[in-house]
Amino acid sequence: MLEADRQEPPMEVIITNSHQASGHLVADLVCEALASRACPALGLATGSSPLPAYAELIRRHEQEGLSFANAAAFLLDEYLGLPGGHPQLYRSFIQEQFTNRVDLDEGNLFSPDPTASDIPTTCAQYEQQIQEVVGIDLLILGIGSDGHIAFNEPSSSLASRTRIKTLTQATRQDNARFFSDDLDAVPKHVITMGIGTILDARHLVMIVTGKAKANCLAQAVEGPITAMVPASALQLHPRVTVIADEAAASKLKLSDYYKQVYAGKPRLARHR
Ligand code: F6R
Repeated sequence: MLEADRQEPPMEVIITNSHQASGHLVADLVCEALASRACPALGLATGSSPLPAYAELIRRHEQEGLSFANAAAFLLDEYLGLPGGHPQLYRSFIQEQFTNRVDLDEGNLFSPDPTASDIPTTCAQYEQQIQEVVGIDLLILGIGSDGHIAFNEPSSSLASRTRIKTLTQATRQDNARFFSDDLDAVPKHVITMGIGTILDARHLVMIVTGKAKANCLAQAVEGPITAMVPASALQLHPRVTVIADEAAASKLKLSDYYKQVYAGKPRLARHR
C-alpha cells in the first residue's frame, strides 16, 4: 500500500451494506467530534438520511453514557411559513427525533428563526451564533436528488451564507412525503445555511442512501465542481466523509477503489 493511501483522503467515501452500519460510522465520528474540545458544536441535517445515526447516538446516550451536555447544535435549515408548533418545522423534527432524547441543553440548540420579521438580520445573527461557538466541528449532511446540500438548490453560490432560498419543485415533491403527500402543504421557502457556511465546518459527513441518490452522488463526488450540483462544492473541503449505501454508490466509477482505500486503512484510523 502506498503511504499516501494511509493518509486521510480529502474526500473519503465509505460504502456500507446497511443503514445500521452507516449509523454506527456516523455515531463514531460524532463521538470523535464531541471529544475534540470542551464545548464542541455539531451541525444537524433533518430528513430521513441521518435517522439511523441519530438512533444510534440516542442508544449510546442511554446505554453507554454518551453526553451532549457541553455541546451546541445548529440546524442546517428551517422551513418558512409553517405555523408555530407544526411537527414538520425542522426544530420540532430534530427535537423529537434526536435532541430531546439526549442531554443536549435546549438553549444550545440553534436554528434559523422562521418567525423573525427581518429575515436578513436573523440570517446574519445565525452566522454570528456559529462564530460565537468558534465554528462547527462536525456537520451532518444529506443530499437532495437534485444535488442540494442543506437547501442550497442548484445555481446557489458556492460562497453563499445563511439566507432565504426558494425550493425547487423537485425538492418540494421529494419532501411531500413528510406532508401526507400533499404538495400544496410543502413550504416554498426556507432559511438555509449557505454553501460557504457549510464549508467552514471542520469536518463534513454526508449520508447518502438509496438508488434515487445514485446520480447526484456520482455528480457530487466525481463530477466537476459546479453550482448546478451544490454538493460538488464538498470537493473544495479538506475533510469530508461520505457514507453511502451500495444502492447510492452504484454509479460511482471508483467505488472499488474507495472500498480498497477503506479496507486498507489502519484499524485505529478508520474513518478518521
Ligand atoms: C434537511 C436538509 C436536506 C436533506 C436532503 C435529503 O435538513 O438539509 O438537504 O438532507 O433533502 O433529505 P432526505 O435525507 O430526507 O433524503
